[in-house]
Amino acid sequence: MTQHHPWPELRGIAYGGDYNPEQWGRDVWREDVALMREAGVDLVSVGIFSWALIELREGEFDFDWLDELLDLLHANGVSVDLGTPTASPPAWFFADHPDARVITADGTVMGFGSRGMASHSSTAYREAIVRIAGALAERYADHPAVVMWHVHNEYGVPVGEDFSPQSVAAFREWLRERYGDLDGLNRAWGTAFWGQHYTDWAHVGAPAAAPSVVNPAQRLDFHRFTDHQLLQCFIAERDAIRAHAAQPITTNFMANQSWTTDLWTWAREVDIVADDHYLWAADPEGEIGLAIAADLSRSVGGGAPWILMEHSTSAVNWQPRNIAKRPGEMARNSLTHLGRGADAILFFQWRASRSGAEKFHSAMIPHAGTGSRVWREVVELGAMLDRLDEVQGSRVLADVAILWDFESFWAQDLEWRPSVELDHRERIRAFYEPLWRAGITIDFAHPGQDLSAYKLVIAPAQYLLSTADAANLTRYVEAGGTLLVSFFSAIVDEHDAVHAGGFGAPLEPALGVRVEEFLPLREGDGVTLEWPGENGLAADAWTEDLVMSGAEAIATYVDGPGAGRPAVTRNRHGAGTGWYVSTRLHGDALDVLLGAVYADAGIEPPALPDGVEAITRRGDDADYLVLVNHREDAAELAASGTELLTGADAPGTLRVPGGGVAVVRTDRGREGGDRPDS
Ligand code: GAL
Repeated sequence: MTQHHPWPELRGIAYGGDYNPEQWGRDVWREDVALMREAGVDLVSVGIFSWALIELREGEFDFDWLDELLDLLHANGVSVDLGTPTASPPAWFFADHPDARVITADGTVMGFGSRGMASHSSTAYREAIVRIAGALAERYADHPAVVMWHVHNEYGVPVGEDFSPQSVAAFREWLRERYGDLDGLNRAWGTAFWGQHYTDWAHVGAPAAAPSVVNPAQRLDFHRFTDHQLLQCFIAERDAIRAHAAQPITTNFMANQSWTTDLWTWAREVDIVADDHYLWAADPEGEIGLAIAADLSRSVGGGAPWILMEHSTSAVNWQPRNIAKRPGEMARNSLTHLGRGADAILFFQWRASRSGAEKFHSAMIPHAGTGSRVWREVVELGAMLDRLDEVQGSRVLADVAILWDFESFWAQDLEWRPSVELDHRERIRAFYEPLWRAGITIDFAHPGQDLSAYKLVIAPAQYLLSTADAANLTRYVEAGGTLLVSFFSAIVDEHDAVHAGGFGAPLEPALGVRVEEFLPLREGDGVTLEWPGENGLAADAWTEDLVMSGAEAIATYVDGPGAGRPAVTRNRHGAGTGWYVSTRLHGDALDVLLGAVYADAGIEPPALPDGVEAITRRGDDADYLVLVNHREDAAELAASGTELLTGADAPGTLRVPGGGVAVVRTDRGREGGDRPDS
């Protein structure tokens, strides 16, 4: 195996995007590289969808055009993140291997003419991806333009679960390995219910469409199996590349926008985390979802700098209403990613496609050409990022962690839950948002990881919680941590079976409370809570009947099905505190709860003007305060040092124009200084 580098040999913050020049002639290529120089582009991803033009028939390769392209880019000072094109196998592949087609839960065989991998369990597909990844690596391992490898594209999208015969056979093998024998499987899946007891492995299948709800434990295992198969495909390609090439290898995640892959596991297999993020246009505050994605990308990689592999210069083309970004928004989005740990800002794609499914998607060079607002902003952003090169390698520190557990989300998303209002995405955003508004930096964390670095851990939606992970959270509290748990948490174990002892039982030692009965509300109904010193707090959707075993009631239900019963509780356990909230508090009410929790955790939110995002990256000798003003008017705030984008001095205060951005370097000297605010 070749020794490899963990980070591409790039200096400063990288800038560029997906480059798909096979759509144009050589005259356009020459214009492209000249414009890349003008915009300060120094990194492009190439070849991601080029399989059909590289391997013309099985084993017959044409590398001439790619040789020419890489040479041209190198001659112009543009480095290459070389893709393996395995997200879109050629027509000949499906003609030769019809059984490699993906089959959906209802038996539909997926056709050609789009994109999306073949069956992740197909032997022919696995052989083909290793062949092409190996051939590319062998040829380009020493090409001076190639600084990184980009395997596949967004695993799990658009193809995740596959119900083809090869996939079902592989699922059976995976289950045998997991459970050993049928007794183990029958127990884990609770097959005694609805008469599903298995007596022969040959009868065990994938959770295909059925007359009613399919066994949830089977569904959850099929989800895990799908994730495992996708990861095996990545590992096979990665290892085929690594046999020849030393550059770092990655694949592009979709942090909080795809839920098929468990990124905690995946992040351990890539050399660098790379993420794609697209604003959800219907969300008037899409920048909050963006911040969540960026924080998650950093967190799954253990805090290391990461690569923003794709975002858009303006509108996308696949949402119901594709809203163009407003002037300055692209730079604000980019700086938020950078502030939250990205060391590369890349786009989909360099030049807008004239043909094909994505011709209405924005690009760095739009259809309107270089006489456009988007192009001018692309050139400006390139110049801004050049001035931020010294930020590369600095890290974001957080005192607060929000738990994020893909397995729990997969389980919670299954059918027949006690209320349609139980939505983990909504709860994560509900808790993230007030901290974002308060300027408190957040990491995401897995419930099984070491949490001792955090003053506060929030579990907004931890429906599935293994007893081992519950013990980890309990130890965190015992050792002095503050834990805030929201309703519908610690309900089931890893087989989606209700915990022995009832709802919430594994966290009872830490929280001093458990749930006797769920008391969900009708659509539109609300309840009021009495919280001493407050004027009645509002909540809706969900309430519970709590059984106290040591906790004190901080707030009680005034009305609703739980009238007179505790609603919010606090428990001293060991050296720490466990809080529990059994209802969906409205924004102001949640602020009251968080204020009390911050006081326990010793967290002081920084003083920030509304609508200004502030994140600190800590370098060896300096802190970099990244400021993004989402307001229309200018904001004044406290900052000392040098503003890097203008070179101006910030002598204690700084004015950030409406819609503008700023990055202030504060020198700390070699001894280091205080930890930045939260
Ligand atoms: C991403 C994908 C790109 C492109 C982009 C814009 O999810 O990786 O290939 O499709 O979306 O729609």
